[in-house]
Amino acid sequence: MTNEPLVHDGTGVLPAHEARVPILDHGFLFGDSVYEVVRTASGRPFMLEEHLDRMRRSAAMIYFEMPWPDAEIRTRMLDLRAALPFQECYFRIVATRGPGPISLLPDGCTEPGLYLIGMDLPRFPARLYTEGCRVAVVRRLRNDPRALDPRAKTGNYLNNMLGLVEARKQGAEDALFLNHEGHLTEATTANAWIVEKGRVVTPPVAEGLLQGITREWLLRKLPEAGIPATEGVIDLDRLHRADEVFLSGTVKGVMPVTAIDGKPVGKGMPGAVALRGMDLYEMALASN
Ligand SMILES: Cc1ncc(COP(=O)(O)O)c(C=O)c1O
Repeated sequence: MTNEPLVHDGTGVLPAHEARVPILDHGFLFGDSVYEVVRTASGRPFMLEEHLDRMRRSAAMIYFEMPWPDAEIRTRMLDLRAALPFQECYFRIVATRGPGPISLLPDGCTEPGLYLIGMDLPRFPARLYTEGCRVAVVRRLRNDPRALDPRAKTGNYLNNMLGLVEARKQGAEDALFLNHEGHLTEATTANAWIVEKGRVVTPPVAEGLLQGITREWLLRKLPEAGIPATEGVIDLDRLHRADEVFLSGTVKGVMPVTAIDGKPVGKGMPGAVALRGMDLYEMALASN
């Protein structure tokens, strides 16, 4: 395979096709794992500490204590980085419950696994930034926080995967999920934002969504750049009336949304606030 990802499995770095996960690992059997996606900027891991903090919070939410210190995870990532011949890399850090009896109870899983997958940083087509992306508000709801809380970034992304497949069938690049109250939550792997008269709003985490690292960063940085940014409940009507809509995520950065369910957002072109957000993110990457 060309551009085959490399894996650090704790013993060393090997090509993905040689890496093995035990068949009785509860991560494989039940989605009983947590993960993070980290990118490099200027060749170095970007906001790794924030990602590791969130990973430990995700783990705590599924009653899983990660036994590896941050320093060890960082060292493994740098070893993997050194083996990858790319300017910028994508890393997926997966911590899994480990093999055990075929029982839902995790008690018998005594050897949790830590796997780092590294590859060339994928790039989205430029037109998604210059023209914006199209999204569909899918019928499927985001997981209710009283079930598997979306704040936990776990190996159970099936609902998001199905939402994405359904959005693609509707001719959109991504899905927006509502919650059971009909309020906007987020996209399948990105947080969602609206702009109203120059003010930026994103749904509160309590609505049922991942507390994105990029989201937290934007909530701090936009106001510093003179753009008010707050959390607020967004219903479908408010979403449709927004001047601008955009998405945020580690690999995506800031991506304008220019059509929702086939209807243009604002003028149907990337808006000034999204463009400013893209610039700010690029500057942060450049100064990493
Ligand atoms: C469901 C979901 N929401 C939001 C995000 C964006 O989070 P971050 O900015 O930490 O990458 C992701 C990232 O993968 C995600 O999976």
